[in-house]
Amino acid sequence: METLSRIVTSSIGRKMMVAALGLLLCGFLGGHLAGNLLLFVGPGAFNAYAHHLETFPLLLPVELGLASIILLHAAVTVYLWFTALGARPVGYAVSVSKGGRTWGSSTMIYTAVLILVFIAVHVLTFKYGTRPSPEDLYGLVMGYLGDWRWAVFYSLVMGCIGLHLSHGFWSACQTFGLDHPKYAPAIKAAGTAFAVAVALAFASIPVWACFIKGGRP
Ligand code: HEM
Repeated sequence: METLSRIVTSSIGRKMMVAALGLLLCGFLGGHLAGNLLLFVGPGAFNAYAHHLETFPLLLPVELGLASIILLHAAVTVYLWFTALGARPVGYAVSVSKGGRTWGSSTMIYTAVLILVFIAVHVLTFKYGTRPSPEDLYGLVMGYLGDWRWAVFYSLVMGCIGLHLSHGFWSACQTFGLDHPKYAPAIKAAGTAFAVAVALAFASIPVWACFIKGGRP
């Protein structure tokens, strides 16, 4: 109990919370991507997978856990950001972070806001949208992603997710002290490879659904 209160009340503890929650979300993304790649296999495989997920007895607690992880990751990050701002009322002309500024690190706040907006829109449309028939989640997804406006929106957001992950993964490793000069280049490269692979694999779905398959179910 004392350890938990030390984590929640200290700055390094809060940073570790953000890092650990971020790594858990990377795990969710990996699993979610694997399931979504079944869209390439066809309606039978994807709808069977969706049916298994939706009838999983612990679905509600898992969904509540996931929502808490996303909200906590965002809320503690915002809290740390404002705390750092308060401790440094006069901003530096150039903000320097260990390991140098990258596209990923300097756009972190913007990609974070975009991802949160995306998740809200995404869950409303894909989870609560109207399906062609109750068991046809494939038809719903292909209906949206077959429209070029949704396909372009999804592809752009997936790029932003890659950018966010490219810095987030490395930053989480640093927080846990995995920034030894001997291993840092390998960890950074693994983080970048993960970010690029996740972004490209997710983006391949709307590109295929709209521009290759032409929106046909
Ligand atoms: C092309 C990319 C994606 C596709 C095709 C896709 C597809 C889906 C589908 C079909 C559902 C509804 C599942 C169901 O009702 O059984 C869903 C839910 C969800 N997706 Fe995605 N997704 C994509 C990318 C993402 C990304 C990048 C994120 C996170 C940043 C994400 C986060 C979520 C969340 C949080 C849910 C709600 C899970 C639940 O409450 O059960 N998705 N997605």
